[in-house]
Amino acid sequence: MSDFSVEATRFQTPGPSTLETERVVIAIANGEITAVAPASSDEAAVLRADSPEHLNLGHDTVIVPGMIDLHIHAPQWQQLGTALDLPVQDWLQTYTFPLEARFADTAMAGVVYRDLVATLLAHGTTTAVYFASVHEPATLVLAETCAEAGQRAFVGRVAMDHPDATPEWYRDADAATGLTASARSIEAIRTADAGRGLVEPIITPRFLPACTDELLTGLGDLAETTGALVQTHCSESDWHHAYAFERFGKTDTSALDSFGLLRNRTVLAHSNHVTDADISLITQRGAAIGHCPISNAYFANAVLPVPELLAAGARVGLGTDIGAGVRPGVLQQCHEAVTMSRMRRDGVHADLSTAERGAPDSAIDTTTAFWLATAGGAEALGLPLGVLEPGRRFDAVAINLDHPHGVIRRHVDLDDDERLFEKVVRLAQTSDISQVWVDGRTVHRR
Ligand code: GUN
Ligand code: FE
Repeated sequence: MSDFSVEATRFQTPGPSTLETERVVIAIANGEITAVAPASSDEAAVLRADSPEHLNLGHDTVIVPGMIDLHIHAPQWQQLGTALDLPVQDWLQTYTFPLEARFADTAMAGVVYRDLVATLLAHGTTTAVYFASVHEPATLVLAETCAEAGQRAFVGRVAMDHPDATPEWYRDADAATGLTASARSIEAIRTADAGRGLVEPIITPRFLPACTDELLTGLGDLAETTGALVQTHCSESDWHHAYAFERFGKTDTSALDSFGLLRNRTVLAHSNHVTDADISLITQRGAAIGHCPISNAYFANAVLPVPELLAAGARVGLGTDIGAGVRPGVLQQCHEAVTMSRMRRDGVHADLSTAERGAPDSAIDTTTAFWLATAGGAEALGLPLGVLEPGRRFDAVAINLDHPHGVIRRHVDLDDDERLFEKVVRLAQTSDISQVWVDGRTVHRR
């Protein structure tokens, strides 16, 4: 006996090159998908009959797995769409640290975070991996806000104490203070989740330039003792990549590893400049890359080699990197991931010959991009999400194909399901998203 069942055309990508489009009945009990059957089958009739509540979404709406944002800065929400004229290291000092420092005001944090979480849910982001700020109270407010709104989340108090790369008015007083604050924040978030398994803490050294060796060593130990996941920024830009060589005499990836921070399911934002040896190490450790294509266009100085990473067996998903990324939804990142990969394939210098200009075979399509946004992100975090199949949690998004305020248009004589899928990935906006579920609960309805 299920709690409820949903009938709809399901679009999903169980593999990076596998698109499934099928009309199905999905049965859900205690937030878990217990059965899925083709809508015309005898089994579907049983699932319908066994459900106290059966929701038929009709033929104008499709259902897709909830989207996973592997990298987002909650206290940068008010900066969205602005302040992208400087390189990342200057952007941090000029705009971002002053903005994040304001989150010492816990009441203000509550207002901003409630708006952010509601907006992300309306975009179909059912799981978000958040950088908060250095402040313990505001970080807890973010975790509580996610729990209240029903969004699945990893929430990290940002640890940063290095006097060279952080201002005196926005950093941990010293490594010991930062470590105590991070340890307390983990406990507080675990208490706030109250065993629901929806919101988890994540250890968050901002990036190597912002942290002393003592802080990094301590955070590596904290990951070992608490079992909490780790997130950080890795080899994002030319400047960031070169910094690690100067300070540690090795790559950012291997320096993170030597501090015990490159662990199973560590989320590395960006990583655009990783070497082949870095990719092997990332894969060996089971760490994951959060690819943030829009942000990368402003800050990264290079396009992430997604096909090469997938071929090497690395875990990869997508992130918005708000506020360096300028779009709140993960679907928008899918479109940009495809676009950037095409720019990389073809190259950008018309002066060069076609053969010299680009990186052959480096483009990805909408199927791979959507896989990154769903099953890829789920695999990165080790969560039973990303595909609507039995045994996984019911995190899902209903998308309307006919909403008058949207731009998706159906042409019955032209559009097969594959074309409709492409339209959904490239064109769907919040106006088209009619319902969002996390763990079987409705968390947004338009
Ligand atoms: N590197 C260190 N901090 C940040 C941040 O907030 N955003 C981005 N894009 N890169 C960073
Ligand atoms: Fe970031």
